[in-house]
Amino acid sequence: MKGWLVVNGFVDSAKFCELYSFLSCAAEKRGIALEVRKSDSFSAPLGEKIADVDRPDFVLFWDKDIRLAARMEKEGLRLFNSASAIEICDSKALTAEALTGHVPTPRTLIAPKTFEGVGYNRLKFLENAARVLGLPIIIKEVYGSFGAQVYLAESLADAEKTVSALGHKEFVMQEFIEESRGRDVRINVVGGEVVSAMERYNCNDFRSNITNGGKMKPAALTPEMEDAAIKACELIGLDFAGVDVLFGKDGPIVCEVNSNPHFKSSLECTGVDMSEKIMDHILERLK
Ligand SMILES: Nc1ncnc2c1ncn2[C@@H]1O[C@H](COP(=O)(O)OP(=O)(O)O)[C@@H](O)[C@H]1O
Ligand SMILES: [Mg+2]
Repeated sequence: MKGWLVVNGFVDSAKFCELYSFLSCAAEKRGIALEVRKSDSFSAPLGEKIADVDRPDFVLFWDKDIRLAARMEKEGLRLFNSASAIEICDSKALTAEALTGHVPTPRTLIAPKTFEGVGYNRLKFLENAARVLGLPIIIKEVYGSFGAQVYLAESLADAEKTVSALGHKEFVMQEFIEESRGRDVRINVVGGEVVSAMERYNCNDFRSNITNGGKMKPAALTPEMEDAAIKACELIGLDFAGVDVLFGKDGPIVCEVNSNPHFKSSLECTGVDMSEKIMDHILERLK
């Protein structure tokens, strides 16, 4: 069995490389030859095959290069996760659209589109959003991770300042789940089953991300939490994911779904190595 681990050609921080080595190790244990292929190493023009003579049995796509993923699928390669699932997770607007009405998720408004050089030069829509969603209000760039592009605006003036600094970047506005301030559960799902879960908490920030200073402890999940995480993955069509679930006053609320989760913290917290589960899942699906 031969696979490609497709990774981004430009991001090579130790944090990412470590994840790739966990995945390679898990593959090796199962006799899978997993070759790391950087996204900038493919040079077949459109209309020509990316994988011609050297065709892998599967591709573990650990990048967000949707065009490359879609091309690979078009020539019949089986991707874990699929191009469409990665695309939905990459965009917090698409994720909110996919989940809303099917699993509990914060009420979300997608910011109206603007253009480079124009920006959000009228902010009346923010006033309307604050009226509909309440204050404080969450403002999230559509593309972002590690909590770095998520903001909490306490007042309308705060929200206006945040949005003015975004230039023309796409963003969403979200109801702030106050009960869950600085606290959530990262639930890792593989093949429709929960494999591990950790609670993340931060007393000094509304964001619970570990990279942003959050602490972690193993989480005891309620059946409702498990169901919400599994259903979110089903809706998006994910083989595996890390799902961020907030504590709502009436039960769990799905905040975000990560198609390429950084599972090292979960491993340290729970002892469960997600890379092993992912490889078992791939083998099972290719039978
Ligand atoms: N609507 C919300 N209400 C309360 N807390 C939120 C909300 N959205 C995000 N958060 C907090 O911010 C963190 C980061 O947001 P998230 O959407 O997961 O973005 P990222 O991709 O940067 O992790 C979450 O883990 C959670 O702690
Ligand atoms: Mg998150």
